[in-house]
Amino acid sequence: MRSPIQPYLRNVLDGIAERRDGALADYIPELAGVDPEPFGVAIAMLDGQTYAAGDADLPFTIQSVAKAFTYALAIRERGLDQVLEHIGIEPSGDAFNRISVDERGRPANPMINAGAIATFALVPGETAAEKFSAVLGFLSACAGRTLTVDESICASEWGAAYRNLGIANILRAGDALAAEPAVAVEGYIRQSSVLVTTRDLAVMGATLASGGVQPVTRERVIDEEIAGHVLSVMTTCGMYDAAGDWVSAVGIPAKSGVGGGIVGASPGRIGLAAFSPRLDRHGNSVRAVAACERLSRDLGLHLM
Ligand code: DON
Repeated sequence: MRSPIQPYLRNVLDGIAERRDGALADYIPELAGVDPEPFGVAIAMLDGQTYAAGDADLPFTIQSVAKAFTYALAIRERGLDQVLEHIGIEPSGDAFNRISVDERGRPANPMINAGAIATFALVPGETAAEKFSAVLGFLSACAGRTLTVDESICASEWGAAYRNLGIANILRAGDALAAEPAVAVEGYIRQSSVLVTTRDLAVMGATLASGGVQPVTRERVIDEEIAGHVLSVMTTCGMYDAAGDWVSAVGIPAKSGVGGGIVGASPGRIGLAAFSPRLDRHGNSVRAVAACERLSRDLGLHLM
């Protein structure tokens, strides 16, 4: 029997698809050339069932959505105390690419670039390739399939990585980066270039929503306590300087990326995701934010 969820998701897309405001991320040359039109939405239940509409099976680069998962991996491997020694958990209120550090010299949180580069540096391994291999394995375990890298977007971002290299150098100078700047940034950019679909992101969101058990493979990828901590930090910091609007309008932990994807996790209920490449001034997808607002309202997901 066809689920009523499918036509509902189609209806969510149809209500928003005429929106063409926002702009592609243009600081990465290859991203400025992607098709701006695709629009997908997906939901993953905690029993592994997925529902999707639109371009939900089209691959795009994960970008900053990966930050939440690499943070989970770093805590799993290093323990929360060691991670907190390097990275804070306060919202910065600044744009994602600002050098927001606290009075101890730590990046404000793991969701902004400074914090995500410091998080990547904490992943086990010596070289960028070794660390990235651990990250790719973890992202793949959360998605339930082997993910790959968009090599041309990766090369394009590496060629224009002046700002992230600058951030990493400042962190390293202040003793706040556990790897050489080039190692951390090279791996972090590779992590940003991992290809996912909207459906993958919904399943990855469900992995966090379930308390760390991948809903399809049933593999426990992180402890419940770590999942809860990551969800808390996503709630306060995942949408950058739009976190206040997000919490008030959508009210669930989430993470966005400049590829146009957003992952959301409704704790104990569902994972959800939306994707469309045009971004608002905070770097969050215009249509994906609108889709998440509608899902939260209709499905009663708001936590408050
Ligand atoms: O660090 C960067 O610039 C990108 N690779 C990721 C940034 C990003 O996705 C910010 N999110 N909205």
